[in-house]
Amino acid sequence: MAQPQTSEKGTASPAKPAGAAGAGAPLPDVVAFKNVTKSFGAGQSARVAIQDVSFVVEDKPGVGELVTIVGPSGCGKSTLLRIIAGLKPHFPATSGEVRVFGKPVMEAGPDRGLVDQKYSLLPHLNVIENIAFGLRLAGKGRSERIARAREWITKVGLEGSEEKYPGELSGGMQQRVSIAATLILQPRILLMDEPFGALDPGIRLRMQELLIRLWTEQQGTVFLVTHSVEEAVYLGDRVFVMAAKPGRLVEVLTVPRPEETPEASRRKPWFIDFCQALLRRLEDSPQSPAGAKV
Ligand SMILES: Nc1ncnc2c1ncn2[C@@H]1O[C@H](COP(=O)(O)OP(=O)(O)O)[C@@H](O)[C@H]1O
Ligand SMILES: [Mg+2]
Repeated sequence: MAQPQTSEKGTASPAKPAGAAGAGAPLPDVVAFKNVTKSFGAGQSARVAIQDVSFVVEDKPGVGELVTIVGPSGCGKSTLLRIIAGLKPHFPATSGEVRVFGKPVMEAGPDRGLVDQKYSLLPHLNVIENIAFGLRLAGKGRSERIARAREWITKVGLEGSEEKYPGELSGGMQQRVSIAATLILQPRILLMDEPFGALDPGIRLRMQELLIRLWTEQQGTVFLVTHSVEEAVYLGDRVFVMAAKPGRLVEVLTVPRPEETPEASRRKPWFIDFCQALLRRLEDSPQSPAGAKV
């Protein structure tokens, strides 16, 4: 039976070979948290969202890494993503050290893109304008914006809906617009907060496949929060397991990923065993996740 391999939380990243970047210097870690705590409020009413969280995601050029995050409601999953993104009120952390590409996070930036459950589309802009919006903010000219947005419309399969407004789209289509609007900016770190939670199972499967395909092209780092244990194992190279009260990172599991398509994996005994072992770990933790399913 496939046993999740646990690496101890907070361990320092292993020494990297000098010259891995070709310049003699080791690559900075993509994201490094060291004893990060975030509390909301002060005094008696203070609420600890995450406590003493430490982890490292190394840079793996030409490969990238997809980290999935699971844990019960309120264990700080969104807080963790939003601290990486540099978004208030979760950012900044109350204590500890957060580094992205070796530098302390000071604010949100184009190297990090967040896709959340709410899709965050602009209701008065149509599909193509929503997808091109970030390029407009980045000062790109109209013809480049439209050409690139059209490429993304094809990638996410929204041909024919270019002129529609968010209110005219299904949840799955809105989510595809939101993903395209984020990926068009080519963030090196993609942060996804339960992105497929509101989609029905068939669309969810297609979106997962789309994400893997698009992200394989970009070879970056993805953090994806999910309530589904199966989705965490299917998509993740590593699974971060969190617990609540206080919110904390309790385990980091490495998914043994054989050379086979994700679709083929899904039916394999190792995959089913791994999901069941993860589900047991979540059930054993102080609060089990609402709606966790295999
Ligand atoms: N803006 C906020 N103000 C006060 N408390 C918050 C705020 N956002 C989150 N929290 C608290 O922080 C904890 C973690 O929240 P969150 O990161 O949203 O958890 P999750 O995404 O795992 O459900 C919860 O107890 C929540 O009530
Ligand atoms: Mg959340």
